[in-house]
Amino acid sequence: MAKTDDQPSEKVKLKIGGKERTFDVGNPKLPDWVEKNALKSGGYPYDDKLANKEYDKAVETLQMELVKLQHWLQETGERVMIVFEGRDAAGKGGTIFVVRQFMNPRTARNVALTKPTETERGQWYYQRYVKHFPTAGEFVTFDRSWYNRGGVEPVMGFCTPEQHEKFLDETPHFEERITKEGIRFFKFWLGIGQEMQLKRFHDRRHSPLKNWKFSPIDIAGMKLWDDYTKARDTMLTRTHSAHAPWTIVAANDKRRARVAVMRRLLRSIPYAGRDMAVIGAEDPKIIGDGPAFLG
Ligand code: ADP
Ligand code: AMP
Ligand code: MLT
Repeated sequence: MAKTDDQPSEKVKLKIGGKERTFDVGNPKLPDWVEKNALKSGGYPYDDKLANKEYDKAVETLQMELVKLQHWLQETGERVMIVFEGRDAAGKGGTIFVVRQFMNPRTARNVALTKPTETERGQWYYQRYVKHFPTAGEFVTFDRSWYNRGGVEPVMGFCTPEQHEKFLDETPHFEERITKEGIRFFKFWLGIGQEMQLKRFHDRRHSPLKNWKFSPIDIAGMKLWDDYTKARDTMLTRTHSAHAPWTIVAANDKRRARVAVMRRLLRSIPYAGRDMAVIGAEDPKIIGDGPAFLG
């Protein structure tokens, strides 16, 4: 159930950049230290967000290329599958939205599964995801994926340490089958800093349009930043492989992140009519390969 402003406050004590902080996401006023540090948090390389005008122009061009890509998928029967991962509020949903915005929704599907049912809990762990894999001509995005077992599940105690370990062992093999099958497979990790996460939780908590996105998992997660960091590092290291590499995107500025993801996809798929000049070059400060990019 969405929280409203008259419920008791949800104050948490946090240690951020060596400083003890108290953060009350229920207080409508966002603290100055959050506002001030959000964009640069986690070592973000820019002092400003990408200008709106520049963003709109880039996105429109890239979306037109994505439409060409979709035609090519239909003609060739090729399959594309993209996993989006990242902490809560990293911007997965918004990125998927702009990528799919002008694609035919019939063959560009998004998969956002809820927590597993009792039946699913009794199945092979990957089974409920496999059910949604693309058929010929499809472009399928995953807003979270089997990687729940590398992050939220071990951190929140929704799986056992043995299940977590097995997941880390099995996933590279599982993904090798996917790529050997011929599916064009991508994995993006959208990285945000701690103050940026707090700012976005706060935005969600106080916005009538975004309130549904703010979950009890998010509240618990505010205190578990370091546990999530540890889980992320283990997960990225153990599941970064030659056949299914992780692409890391610095995502404090949603606009730059979205442009970077679209460019990476378009530059990686040889669709008919691809125009490298309009796609443009990647920004190596924003996008890179594997856990090493996180520094
Ligand atoms: P989201 O970030 O996708 O909006 P939440 O923050 O509520 O949603 O949950 C994060 C992830 O944790 C989701 O993928 C959800 O399915 C998963 N999850 C929540 N509760 C459980 C549970 N009891 N067991 C396994 N997974 C869970
Ligand atoms: P997020 O950025 O992840 O907090 O989510 C942004 C959400 O805003 C998306 O899930 C969309 O439903 C919605 N949205 C509406 N218009 C746009 C747009 N032009 N660009 C991005 N997101 C949009
Ligand atoms: C995101 O914004 O990263 C996701 O789509 C939603 C979430 O964080 O809970």
